[in-house]
Amino acid sequence: MQRIIIALDGYSSCGKSTTAKKVAAKLGYAFIDTGAMYRAVSLYCHEHHVTLTNPKEVDKALDNIHITFHFNEHRGASDVYLNGLNVEDEIRKMYISQMVSEVSAVTTIRRAMVAQQQKMGKGKGIVMDGRDIGTKVFPNAEIKVFMTADPVIRAGRRQIELLEKGEMIGIDEILENLKKRDYIDSHREEGPLTQAIDATYMDTSYMTLDEQAEFVLMLHDSFVSRNVK
Ligand code: DC
Repeated sequence: MQRIIIALDGYSSCGKSTTAKKVAAKLGYAFIDTGAMYRAVSLYCHEHHVTLTNPKEVDKALDNIHITFHFNEHRGASDVYLNGLNVEDEIRKMYISQMVSEVSAVTTIRRAMVAQQQKMGKGKGIVMDGRDIGTKVFPNAEIKVFMTADPVIRAGRRQIELLEKGEMIGIDEILENLKKRDYIDSHREEGPLTQAIDATYMDTSYMTLDEQAEFVLMLHDSFVSRNVK
């Protein structure tokens, strides 16, 4: 069967990564969570006290950052590694969420990550989720979905995720963080979060994760059936 690129973009905590993981598993595709890459860069910047407004410090950091993904059988998805160390759990913590939008707004950081993401998708057969996948990373992706959901519902989902990882954070703090990130993500100069003109809009407020995955799989099947040679 024809192997394609599926780009899932949208706001924080809309279920992009879980949907992407399910779709990739069903199709036997690779799944790349690009948010994890920006989170890993944020962790590095935090640990090494990188001043984001100092281009030399940022360039030096980028030279020293090596991000890889390795499949975790238990999770059924790839964990992200920063310089050989599994940082999958650490990067999901609230202190990283609080700095990641600022980090991912730095143009040189974006360019470095986008170049790496484009390399990963060269062979196609990939589901990639993020903010600029359908607009910047793969503007020619065969399928593009733009995901959104009610902010209060998103904050509730995020709270459960954090609780499952042992972090108890109030809903107001989470909601404020989501709104702030959405604003920064949508208003930065380089690769802002915006719906690609040819993306399908999906509001996940009242959809289950299975329904979200089925919707994307339906788009996939319909694309493939229209393009059989
Ligand atoms: O998907 P996430 O919430 O883990 O992403 C974390 C942050 O990374 C998000 O606030 C914006 C940024 N990001 C980005 O700028 N571009 C992407 N392609 C993916 C994520």
